[in-house]
Amino acid sequence: MTIMEAIRNRHTVRRYTRHAIPEEILEQLEKRIADNNKKYGLHMKLMINNEKAFGTFIKLILAKGVKNYIILSGEDKPDLDEKLGYCGIDIALFAQTLGLNSWWVGGTFHRKNIAKYAQGEKVTGIIAIGYGIMQGVPHKSKKAEEISSYNGTAPEWFAHGVNAALLAPTALNKQAFTIKGEENKVSIFCNNGIFTETDLGIVKYHFEAGAGKEHFEWV
Ligand SMILES: Cc1cc2nc3c(=O)[nH]c(=O)nc-3n(C[C@H](O)[C@H](O)[C@H](O)COP(=O)(O)O)c2cc1C
Repeated sequence: MTIMEAIRNRHTVRRYTRHAIPEEILEQLEKRIADNNKKYGLHMKLMINNEKAFGTFIKLILAKGVKNYIILSGEDKPDLDEKLGYCGIDIALFAQTLGLNSWWVGGTFHRKNIAKYAQGEKVTGIIAIGYGIMQGVPHKSKKAEEISSYNGTAPEWFAHGVNAALLAPTALNKQAFTIKGEENKVSIFCNNGIFTETDLGIVKYHFEAGAGKEHFEWV
C-alpha cells in the first residue's frame, strides 16, 4: 500500500482487537519514528503493551483495547505543534500501509500518565495504533470549493492536493483550513483553536502527498 492509498483508506478507529503487532512491524515503525525524530528534532515515542493512555471513563465509553500508541512530544519551541502534526501523520499513514489502524487523540488522553513518559517535554497528543475491530468510516467532508481557490485555471496537481487535504484528520473534524494557489505558490491558513498548528502540519502533509512536492512551494 502506498502513502496515497493509505490517505484514502485511513479512518479513525477507536476500538482494537487483542491481536499483537508482530515484531517485524514494530521494528519498521520504530525506524520511521526514529527517522522523523532525527530529521525534525522531535522526541516521539512508541509505547507497546501499555494501557495507561486513557482513564477509566474514556475506556468505558470510547477507547477499547488501546495498548499501543505513539506519544507526540518534543522540546517546547514555537514550531513544535506543526512539526508533530506533520510527522505524526507520516507515522499514522505509514502504520496504515503496514495494515494497522490508528486514532489521533489530542484531548481525551490521560495527560498525567503520558507526561510521566515524556520526561518534561511538551506533549501535543498521542496516536493509538493497532488492529481495529473495523476499518472506520470516511469522515463527513467539506467540498473542495469551500476550502480552496486558485487564481486562474487550477492545475491538476492543485486539485489533487486539495482532495488529499480534505481526507486529512483534523481536530473535531473541523476542516478549518483554506488553501490558496497562484502559479506554483500555495498558501494555507488554519484556525482550529488550540489544534490550529497540529492541523496545519497534518493538512500540509496530505496536500504535499496529493499534489507532489515538486509542483509547488509553500508561501
Ligand atoms: C489534532 C487532532 C486531535 C484530535 N483529538 C481527538 C480526541 O481528543 N478525541 C477523539 O475521540 N478524537 C480526536 N481526534 C480525531 C478526530 O475526531 C478525527 O480525526 C476526525 O473526526 C476525522 O475523522 P477521520 O480521522 O476518520 O478522518 C483528533 C484529531 C486530530 C487531528
